Amino acid sequence: MNTFLVSLLLALGLCASSQAADPAGNATAGQAKTAVCGACHGPDGNSLVPGFPKLAGQGERYLLKQLREIKDGKRVVVEMTGLLNNLNDQDLADISAFYAGQQGSIGAASPDLVAKGEALFRGGRLDQGLPACTGCHSPDGTGNIQAGFPHLGGQHADYIKKQLMAFREGDRTNDGDTRVMRAIAARLSTQDIEALAHYIQGLH
Ligand code: HEC
Ligand code: HEC
Repeated sequence: MNTFLVSLLLALGLCASSQAADPAGNATAGQAKTAVCGACHGPDGNSLVPGFPKLAGQGERYLLKQLREIKDGKRVVVEMTGLLNNLNDQDLADISAFYAGQQGSIGAASPDLVAKGEALFRGGRLDQGLPACTGCHSPDGTGNIQAGFPHLGGQHADYIKKQLMAFREGDRTNDGDTRVMRAIAARLSTQDIEALAHYIQGLH
């Protein structure tokens, strides 16, 4: 493991240990609160629209963090403006539990981009300080549920690409004080991002 990755993991660990306990989510109660979400994210969280993220099978802790931050504007999602205003923290935890329990669908990867994407995802580019994505998102892309590192495998390539661009340009900053994803995306070219996004779409 390179020192850049070690320092990121240490910083993430310190942040995680200072967090307050999350409320326990109830998936059945959560499903009833997702009627409005299904139009974009799909009734079971498997969105069919490439720009709308799949939520099915995503880690509960990651989902709750995103919902809190979208609600309070720390992460700007214009399509969701106002939608979370009437939901309290327990509602957000219930919704997170519901999507976490759904089975995520897998997409297809463009064959011409897979090799490059796979090499970057699994090996990084250590001479340029780019750690392997597997260190945090795991080799099969399931992420690290407890740590809140998101599940990526099977996610729409368009959505992944948009997030990596947003981290790189500083338009998405809710990776927090560790700046973990901003630091990583800063080391990726647009071609790298394209290849990674396609590889991730077919990863499982
Ligand atoms: C009009 C479409 C639309 C509706 C309705 C909608 N969303 Fe979203 N949602 C989006 C888009 C678009 C994004 C991604 C924005 C971006 O590119 O950063 C998103 C992102 C998210 C994310 C972050 C996913 C991730 O992987 O980081 C979560 C969680 C989420 N939505 C949950 C919900 C919930 C719960 C509801 C219902 C209360 C809802 N959304 C309703 C369009 C919508
Ligand atoms: C040191 C740990 C770490 C490494 C290494 C890492 N990530 Fe991440 N990644 C994270 C964390 C933590 C988040 C969630 C940030 C947040 O809470 O918003 C994240 C979020 C993401 C997201 C947004 C997911 C979503 O649903 O919106 C994408 C895409 C992503 N990472 C791709 C990658 C790729 C590609 C690589 C390798 C080039 C990589 N990550 C390497 C920790 C890491």
